[in-house]
Amino acid sequence: MDMDYEERYQTGNMPWDHGMPDGNLIAWVKRWPIGPCKVLDIGCGTGENSIWMARQGFAATGCDLSKTAVERAQAKAAAAEVKCTFMTADFLEDQLPGLPFGFVFDRGCLHCIDGEADRRRFAQNVADHLTEAGLWLSLIGNADEPEREVGPPQLTAAEVAAAVESRFEILSLEAGHFGSDQDNPPRAWICLMRKRA
Ligand SMILES: C[S@@+](CC[C@H](N)C(=O)[O-])C[C@H]1O[C@@H](n2cnc3c(N)ncnc32)[C@H](O)[C@@H]1O
Repeated sequence: MDMDYEERYQTGNMPWDHGMPDGNLIAWVKRWPIGPCKVLDIGCGTGENSIWMARQGFAATGCDLSKTAVERAQAKAAAAEVKCTFMTADFLEDQLPGLPFGFVFDRGCLHCIDGEADRRRFAQNVADHLTEAGLWLSLIGNADEPEREVGPPQLTAAEVAAAVESRFEILSLEAGHFGSDQDNPPRAWICLMRKRA
């Protein structure tokens, strides 16, 4: 397990966690639209996005490497009286119960994966968890801004395409920003994909 993330949750070093669902997710669910279905939130952290989707009628499952993050997500959902399933898993290695999902979401998980070969493996596993023509919305650190002292890992558009294109048709690749409570939120790629036949 990646002790770095576990340690970050234990010490409260999570600048990405602003206690709100990401506005890019909310916008795309309405814009496409992505209808309520079974959704998998990969690298769900403390669960804000999963909980938001469950509230919209999705049957939400979230997974994360960090046990502490998963425990917090479970506690938040219980406190909000929202039904979600959260589990500890390494998405590079594990197959999760409950597949196939109609929709996969990740906010800042694909970009955590080092190296093209592992990112392709991650995308392959996303495809294996999706229904035919299932959708994946990924929010990814964008290398078109200088790397920040404190900020997300960043990928170029070419790196995003290299990771996903063999298994996914890219429906939209937009430059934007992560939802954030910072004055100057990090730049993001907002990438909507459909699983290839
Ligand atoms: C930048 S954080 C984002 C967390 C959450 N999506 C959010 O928006 O608050 C990235 C998350 O991905 C998780 N993660 C990284 N690699 C992972 C992997 N291989 N499998 C599952 N989760 C992973 C980390 O533990 C961390 O919680």
